[in-house]
Amino acid sequence: MANPHPHFLIITFPAQGHINPALELAKRLIGVGADVTFATTIHAKSRLVKNPTVDGLRFSTFSDGQEEGVKRGPNDLPVFQRLASENLSELIMASANEGRPISCLIYSILIPGAAELARSFNIPSAFLWIQPATVLDIYYYYFNGFGDLIRSKSSDPSFSIELPGLPSLSRQGLPSFFVGSDQNQENHALAAFQKHLEILEQEENPKVLVNTFDALEPEALRAVEKLKLTAVGPLVPSGFSDGKDASDTPSGGDLSDGSRDYMEWLKSKPESTVVYVSFGSISMFSMQQMEEIARGLLESGRPFLWVIRAKENGEENKEEDKLSCQEELEKQGMLIQWCSQMEVLSHPSLGCFVTHCGWNSSIESLASGVPMIAFPQWADQGTNTKLIKDVWKTGVRLMVNEEEIVTSDELKRCLELVMGDGEKGQEMRKNAKKWKILTKEALKEGGSSHKNLKNFVDEVIQGY
Ligand code: UDX
Repeated sequence: MANPHPHFLIITFPAQGHINPALELAKRLIGVGADVTFATTIHAKSRLVKNPTVDGLRFSTFSDGQEEGVKRGPNDLPVFQRLASENLSELIMASANEGRPISCLIYSILIPGAAELARSFNIPSAFLWIQPATVLDIYYYYFNGFGDLIRSKSSDPSFSIELPGLPSLSRQGLPSFFVGSDQNQENHALAAFQKHLEILEQEENPKVLVNTFDALEPEALRAVEKLKLTAVGPLVPSGFSDGKDASDTPSGGDLSDGSRDYMEWLKSKPESTVVYVSFGSISMFSMQQMEEIARGLLESGRPFLWVIRAKENGEENKEEDKLSCQEELEKQGMLIQWCSQMEVLSHPSLGCFVTHCGWNSSIESLASGVPMIAFPQWADQGTNTKLIKDVWKTGVRLMVNEEEIVTSDELKRCLELVMGDGEKGQEMRKNAKKWKILTKEALKEGGSSHKNLKNFVDEVIQGY
C-alpha cells in the first residue's frame, strides 16, 4: 500500500567521497518530507566533523573491523560487502518490527549486494551513482560491446575512442581501471561495477540517481536509454545551495579541535588570489612529488591553502615526512590537515583549485565557480579532468614528465595560465562563473534537480 511518509535506508562504502554526497542526499530527502536511516561503519561515523543533527535522520552503525584506523588491504571490499549485507538485513527487519518499514533502499557504488537484498525483501531500491553520468556510460559501454576494443588498445598512448553520446576519449580520459596500473582495485571495483549494471538490467523499472545536473551532462544522461539516469545533484552541502551557510557541511576528516584558523586567514586575502590545493581523502604522493608541488607554489608567489592529510593508520609523521621548505611554505601560505572544503571553495578570496578531480571536489568547485588545475590519479579522475578541460572549459591538466612527476615549473605554468591575465585564464574564469549560476538554477525550488528528486520520492510513495 502507498506510504505517504516514506522511510529511506541509505548505505555507502565508508569513504569520504562516497559518504558526503549520500549524506547530502539524505538531507534533501528529509527536506521533501521523508525519513532517512543512514547505515555506515563505526569508523566512518566517528570521522564526521559535524554529526548532522537533522530531524528525521538516524544513523545506524556497524563494525568493519577498522575502528583503530583504516588499514587498506586487497580484501577490504569483499569484507565490507559481506558485513554491509548482514547489517542491512537486520536493519530492514528491525525497522519493520518497530513499525517504520523501509520504503526504499538507496545504495551507492561498490555494494551491488544491497540491491539483491532489497529484492529479497520485496523493497524497491535505487542506485546512487556518485560520479558523472559520463563515467557510468563508459562502464556500460565497456561491458556492452566495447570492452575487447578498449582492452586491446589499453597500452597504446595514441588510442582514442568514440562512444555514443560521449565526447571523444583518449586513453587518459578513460577510467584508470581499464588502462592498467590499479590491479587490486581493478579486480574488485570492476567486478562490482559489472554486477551493478547487470542488476539494473534485470530491474523492470531501474532507478539510478546521479550526482550531476541536467544542464551539465545533457547527452550523457540520455546516452544509455535503458539506464534511466535521474540527475539530482550537485549533492553539495545544502547550506550552499540555499545561499545561507556553506559551513553546513557533512564533511569529515582529521580536523583537530579549533583548527578553523584557515577561515580567518582566507578572510585576510584579497579577492580571487588564493590557490587551494587538496587531493581528496584517499590519494597520497611521494615525497619527490610533494617537494615539486611545494616549490611550484612558492615560486608562483601566490598565497595558498594546502591540505596535507595526516596518515590514516595512526602512524606519527616522521622527520623524513617533513618538506624541506616547510618554513617558507608557512610564511607564504597555510598548511592544514583537513578543512571544510565547500566553505573554503565558496570563499571570495579563492582563485583556483589544484585538485585530483575526485568527482566531489570537481562538482564542488563547479558549484563554487572556481577554476581548476587537474592532477588526476585514478578511477574516474581522468574522465572528470577531460570534462573539466574540454567540455566545461573551466580548467587545465598538469602534465607529468617521463618519471610521472609534475614538476614545479609545470605547476607554475598552469597557475599562471588559470590565474593570470591571459585570454585563456579569463575564459576559464568566465566559464566557472557560468557553471556556478547554472548549479544554483538546478538546485533551487522548481529547478531540474529539485524537480527530479521530488518526482522520485513521489514514485516511491506511489510504490514503484
Ligand atoms: C573517491 C574517489 O577517489 C574519487 O575518484 C571519486 O570520484 C569519489 O570517491 P576522493 O578521492 O576522496 O573520492 O575525492 P572527492 O570525490 O573529491 O571527495 C573528497 C571529499 O572530501 C569532498 O566532498 C571534499 O569536500 C571533502 N574534503 C576533502 C573536505 O571536506 N576537506 C578536505 O580537506 C578535503
